Amino acid sequence: MAKILTLHGVNLNMLGKRDPKQYGAATLAQIDEQLGALAKELGVEVECYQTNFEGEMCERIHRAFAEKVDAVVINAGAWTHYSYAIRDALAILTVPIIEVHMSHVHAREEFRHKSVFAEIAKGQISGFGVDSYLLGLRAAVAAIK
Ligand code: DQA
Repeated sequence: MAKILTLHGVNLNMLGKRDPKQYGAATLAQIDEQLGALAKELGVEVECYQTNFEGEMCERIHRAFAEKVDAVVINAGAWTHYSYAIRDALAILTVPIIEVHMSHVHAREEFRHKSVFAEIAKGQISGFGVDSYLLGLRAAVAAIK
């Protein structure tokens, strides 16, 4: 069974409490539950991981390389816009990387328009709330077929 790793970056543990106008009311646990249900429907395995520590995120990505995951779905939060360390870690992987954002980053502040992952990601999904993750999982499954 294909294994897809979903990575949630900095501040995403606060979903449900944080800026509901941008991110809605769902908690991270509820999002992970929906991802698990969709994975079951699509016949893939999904593992979800969150950290607020950049180095820990890099180490989780290194482990993903060793574990030979088939694809990565990542919402790196604000790291998206400036973390060359996470970008370099992701670039070690040879599998499809799908970048997701719950809010429509290109309709927000200028600093959110830039993604340092864009060049190494298969594509970006932005602006659909929880559905951004679900669409991201579908995109990952399609990419590994
Ligand atoms: C986000 C958008 C980022 O700009 C922001 O820093 C986040 C969440 C999103 O899901 O819309 O933390 O990645």
